[in-house]
Amino acid sequence: MRWSSILAALPLLAAACDRPAPADEAARLSPRAEKGKALFSTHCAACHAPSAKLVGPPLSEIASLHGANPEAIVRWAVSPGRKRTDVPPMPSFRGVRESDLADVAQYMIEAGNAAGKQRP
Ligand code: HEC
Repeated sequence: MRWSSILAALPLLAAACDRPAPADEAARLSPRAEKGKALFSTHCAACHAPSAKLVGPPLSEIASLHGANPEAIVRWAVSPGRKRTDVPPMPSFRGVRESDLADVAQYMIEAGNAAGKQRP
């Protein structure tokens, strides 16, 4: 047994263990979504969470509804529809710039997809 080669491999093993878990990798956000995350915290987080239903639907649900069409999220935020009758209507965010809402939409989709993947 060549102990010296095993010892030589230890730092490599330690480095391998430092790598983030796959779930963290899935939650890594694009720069655009990072920007949207801050605005999301200010404007939307009171009612929307990644995988839990608060007042509004979770981001995982929003991502599966609108993942291919972030523009639909922007339109909804400006002029919310009425779908779920067991909750109060969502207030309009027409006072927020649409380019900011587009960043929020990007965050909702990326965080929602990551939250959806973490479910068993
Ligand atoms: C005061 C609570 C509240 C806040 C704040 C809020 N929402 Fe909502 N949201 C709701 C509720 C309630 C619903 C469900 C309404 C319904 O289905 O009738 C909803 C639904 C949604 C949906 C689902 C649309 C669909 O097609 O089903 C999207 C997308 C959404 N919100 C985006 C946002 C964004 C973006 C923000 C922040 C800019 C935000 N919401 C802030 C309460 C809120």
